[in-house]
Amino acid sequence: METVASASPVDLEKQYLFQNYARLPVVLARGKGSYVYDTAGKRYLDLIAGIGVNALGHGHPRLIKVIREQVGKMIHCSNLYYHEYQGPLAKRIAQASGMDRVFFCNSGTEAMEGALKIVRAHGRKLHAEKFETIALQDSFHGRTFGALSITGQEKYRRDFEPMLPGARFVPRNDIGALEQTVGPNTAGIVLEVVQGEGGIYPMTTAFVRKARELADRYNAILVFDETQCGVGRPGTYFAYQLLEPVVMPDVTVAAKPLACGIPLGFVAATESAASTIGAGQHGTTFGGNPLACRTALEFFDILDELLPNITNVGGYFRMRLTELAKRYSFIKEVRGYGLMIGVELEFPGKQIVLDCIEQGLLINCTHDIVLRALPP
Ligand SMILES: Cc1ncc(COP(=O)(O)O)c(C=O)c1O
Repeated sequence: METVASASPVDLEKQYLFQNYARLPVVLARGKGSYVYDTAGKRYLDLIAGIGVNALGHGHPRLIKVIREQVGKMIHCSNLYYHEYQGPLAKRIAQASGMDRVFFCNSGTEAMEGALKIVRAHGRKLHAEKFETIALQDSFHGRTFGALSITGQEKYRRDFEPMLPGARFVPRNDIGALEQTVGPNTAGIVLEVVQGEGGIYPMTTAFVRKARELADRYNAILVFDETQCGVGRPGTYFAYQLLEPVVMPDVTVAAKPLACGIPLGFVAATESAASTIGAGQHGTTFGGNPLACRTALEFFDILDELLPNITNVGGYFRMRLTELAKRYSFIKEVRGYGLMIGVELEFPGKQIVLDCIEQGLLINCTHDIVLRALPP
């Protein structure tokens, strides 16, 4: 009989794991800076960075130092108690986001669940029919039932119907459709200021401003999902800060790079939106543990040093890609902000992703035809 030690990780996964991931043919072993190495020692330039998680690359010495220290002190303590790092991190996030209060969780989808509970609690306080949530076609908000219900991509929802009632979808940047859909029963409007999984599509300022205006007119909560487009990646703390003038949400959620691989997400909200959730109405076992929060504090310190340069580096990257687009007609468009970059092709990008792996480059393809780079 084959022993665990002799079986390849790929064979073991094929035999024992749910087959829900269409894995690419690489077994990664370690990383350093912007590079990762497979088990055979082959080096790859990592332009996808854990789909935006490894925003500081791999093995950052300052992260290693605080993680080592904190593991020795305390990894977890229950939310029954205070610890040293949730308060300072919440203050940091409040200052960066312009929100008043923060709730910590473990992932983007969980953060979205928290935001949806705020939307529901807000609507319910006003009247029983006020539970509709307006979201965008081609959006992605996560895999749990609430987040999935407002994810505007049929392929993710189809097999799990019926979803949470009250979700309605409008095409991105379609002001007319938004005006027609939002009404007295709208409890929340949820959008990604730059759609990630949907193909790196930025929202126009006019569209986001209209969402704000309609949310105010109908007393609904405006939620921005900054899980992929936020937390430094756009060259500002959050993508809504790119808009001129800035459009403020009532609630913003984020996750991915916050603790650089240690799971951490948050819901940040205005005083009024946060007050819809009373004591005992929401919570988590793992969310906001000392290890994740301390790592995130270090992440924010490092991000502050990097932030001024992100727009330049990302701009240079897009400029060079735009030069390629002039040479190759199969490149339809280069889009994005900061270090969130999409290259739309005339055909599916899967083969290019595989060819890049051969050449020692990790890149991803989203929405079938958009090559996506989320570099460290
Ligand atoms: C915009 C957005 N929201 C939510 C999620 C879900 O986050 P997680 O996979 O951490 O649950 C993602 C993941 O890619 C995302 O891009």
